[in-house]
Amino acid sequence: MRTLIYPGTFDPLTRGHVDIARRARRLCDRLYVVVLRNANKRPAFDVAERRDMAARCLADLDGCFVEDYDGLLVDYMVERGAVAVVRGLRSESDFRYELEMVAANRLLYESFESILLPSSSALALTSSAIVREVAAYGGDISAMVPDEIQDEVARRLVRPEYRHRLEVRT
Ligand code: COA
Repeated sequence: MRTLIYPGTFDPLTRGHVDIARRARRLCDRLYVVVLRNANKRPAFDVAERRDMAARCLADLDGCFVEDYDGLLVDYMVERGAVAVVRGLRSESDFRYELEMVAANRLLYESFESILLPSSSALALTSSAIVREVAAYGGDISAMVPDEIQDEVARRLVRPEYRHRLEVRT
């Protein structure tokens, strides 16, 4: 059984993340999408919310399991017997960041391996931060966020003074 891991903060999961998860699933027998903590981020959604939203969006993907984990990525990899981690690459700046992550993880676990999947072009410039920004102003996030969680994300992140913009659309 070839197991891959797709780790992230997923605050919230975007259509870009779903695209990477679906493509990664084709490369392995089992894919674990895992919500981890990034020490540099203060997420808008708590871990359980992020995990549940990701699980809803990926429910139809056989052989894909969504979990959360409080610890080092390399420890989770060993626990799951994974051969590699999958990450999406949207731009040159992602590439630099990913190389730094690979280097750090390899110092912790010498067998650490990662597979970098280029984002599909239409999704290449979305990010969770852009989703949070647009949603705060009651903007339309439907092109960026999976159908299953659009409502929850929009309602949770809209500022009170922009709430009327959501009502207009529903
Ligand atoms: N489509 C859309 N957006 C994407 C994307 C894609 N295909 N790929 C990445 N992104 C965006 C995300 O939306 C996010 O945007 P934001 O910063 O604007 O919110 C950003 O790129 C990266 O976030 P994400 O993919 O959710 O993961 P991350 O880079 O925050 O994840 C961890 C980092 C959690 C994997 C890392 O911190 C970790 O391993 N933590 C565990 C502790 C550990 O082992 N630390 C040592 C690591 S060296």
